[in-house]
Amino acid sequence: MKWRWQILGFLMICLTGWSGPVDAQSDLVSAGRNFAEMACSPCHVVSDRYKVPILRNPGPSFAEIAARTSTTGDSLRTYLRSTHRDMGQSGRMPNPRLLDFEIDEVVAYILSLREH
Ligand code: HEC
Repeated sequence: MKWRWQILGFLMICLTGWSGPVDAQSDLVSAGRNFAEMACSPCHVVSDRYKVPILRNPGPSFAEIAARTSTTGDSLRTYLRSTHRDMGQSGRMPNPRLLDFEIDEVVAYILSLREH
């Protein structure tokens, strides 16, 4: 008798487990949005909450970046890891020196802006 409940419990965990990957992805996207609004909005239009970048030489908006066919998860990762060498040139984007999990979040967010 007792076993039945345990089996039922196990099945419930399996079933609820299914929604896991989807939720994890949307958590990543919303974390990325928060992060971008904080860290990138001075120079990029990152969402409709912050429409005007405040620093000069603004970069392209995130929606614009997402819409390019050349933009992929890999191209974004490479870019975010390598802008370092442009630091001396005025007007270029400085290396944001992001941590890996921040890169994952912000990349997930940018790609989520792509219109399907
Ligand atoms: C100090 C201003 C500044 C900040 C802060 C900034 N950017 Fe940028 N970004 C730029 C500029 C300017 C460009 C245009 C390309 C260049 O000159 O390097 C750019 C370009 C980019 C591009 C590439 C666009 C392309 O041409 O393919 C990506 C992706 C990007 N930024 C992401 C980010 C993310 C993510 C953040 C926040 C963590 C961020 N940026 C913060 C100024 C900034």
